[in-house]
Amino acid sequence: MRRGIAIGLAWVAAIGTFGGPSARAEGPTYYKDVAGIIQKNCQECHRPGQVAPFSLLTYEQARKRASDISHVTDERTMPPWPASTKFGGPFVDQRVLADSEIATLRAWVEAGCPEGNPKDAPPAREFASDWPLGKPDLVLTMPESYELSGDGKDEFRVFVLKTDLPEDRWIRAVDFKPGNRKVVHHIIAGIDTSGRARELDAKDKKPGYEAIGGFGDGVPLRGFLPIWTPGSRARYQPEGSGYVLPSKADLLIQMHYHKSGKAETDATQVGLYLSDKPLPKQVRTGFLFPEIQPEQAAKLMTKVQNIMAEGRRPTLEETFEDVLVIPPGDANYEIKGSSKPGKSMMSQPLRRDILLTSVMPHMHWLGKDFTFTAVLPDEKQTRIPLIKIDRWNFNWQGTYAFAEPIRLPKGAYFEMEAHFDNSEANPANPSHPPKVVTWGEQTTNEMCIGVYEFVAADGADAPTPTAPTTKARPSRLR
Ligand code: HEC
Repeated sequence: MRRGIAIGLAWVAAIGTFGGPSARAEGPTYYKDVAGIIQKNCQECHRPGQVAPFSLLTYEQARKRASDISHVTDERTMPPWPASTKFGGPFVDQRVLADSEIATLRAWVEAGCPEGNPKDAPPAREFASDWPLGKPDLVLTMPESYELSGDGKDEFRVFVLKTDLPEDRWIRAVDFKPGNRKVVHHIIAGIDTSGRARELDAKDKKPGYEAIGGFGDGVPLRGFLPIWTPGSRARYQPEGSGYVLPSKADLLIQMHYHKSGKAETDATQVGLYLSDKPLPKQVRTGFLFPEIQPEQAAKLMTKVQNIMAEGRRPTLEETFEDVLVIPPGDANYEIKGSSKPGKSMMSQPLRRDILLTSVMPHMHWLGKDFTFTAVLPDEKQTRIPLIKIDRWNFNWQGTYAFAEPIRLPKGAYFEMEAHFDNSEANPANPSHPPKVVTWGEQTTNEMCIGVYEFVAADGADAPTPTAPTTKARPSRLR
């Protein structure tokens, strides 16, 4: 009797939602409406051997997770795309569901997940298994495979890939082939010619060495390469531009490993697409650092002078340890940065017209939001929105490449505004109870950097291929 009532109520609810049995027949079905959305937006990660914890390839799999699917898409936590769609962009490979797609998923779940007719199903999606851009000119593999335990904390490790090239080359595109997609969460890459990364590697007993925010203590990075995250696709840099790869340079990859529940091994590969001849335009990396207040600047100058007197340059940690100081319990600590003339000791306005190709906000676990803007040197100080991360998530950081590079004139400058949540209520907070957090390399440190990539806008910018890309900077992203 009870059961009869329950079924009756469900039936009434269904009519209530869809206006009667005939309308219901036209409601969304898995094969006709839902499969295509999941294929396009979810399967690159939600299939066997990929980073997501379960597959979404079949009706049964989707039905089992139906209410979660509706929930995470409603909340826009899946597919992972922390950037706002209303500010900046548009970006390449933007992973964002249309409102109508979210509504379809919701209606399908509310209707009880009707399967529909398999004849309506779209053809299965094919995934490129090898190198999508074709065979790379140079493939570098992690020198030893790395063994991960089944559980425990995420690991952040840098591996040194020696290139041993006899001469300088230019990189037109970089691709990554994670050795084990179940555990590789993201890959940051850069170039080192100092040998410092090799030293750190030699000191660490296991393959590679540990480093969370960047490439480790004292590595004077020569240049950055694009970041890999699940679903990101390799692309060529704009015509005539590329990254310099100095002879004998080491390519560094910082791997973010997320444990899968089982012991796993990884030997990731990097594929480089090289140019036969020097390219006229070098892809360069710029950094916008936090603003230093006048009262902090005086103290900092004394400190910097003392450090220079020791015959070395201050590290970013030494520079910013009094600038970024996040008190425990502060749920909305603000940091601003600007390269407006006279505003910053560390970042200057643009010295030439550029094409801005990508942006990459960088913070650690306490990051909350990040807004990055370019300001034109015109009378109105026109603001060009670049990117806004509304809900920063350290697990889903990446290089955001503009669908069309943005042209910025000489004299334009950048601004950023970011917030941190160092409260007990922040589930990402690595310290319980929260403690004072300052700039640094450790998981329990923070950073705030607006990283951007650009090429010179017209004519050649003609640096010799060996010209250092970051030498004039205080040091590295750490
Ligand atoms: C770029 C990779 C990627 C894409 C694309 C993706 N997911 Fe996920 N998904 C993950 C990972 C990884 C997890 C595990 C939790 C985490 O790391 O955030 C996850 C977790 C989930 C969960 C479990 C919820 C939770 O909080 O643990 C659901 C449900 C989900 N995804 C649904 C979807 C749906 C639906 C889509 C497409 C609309 C989608 N995902 C697209 C990677 C992805």
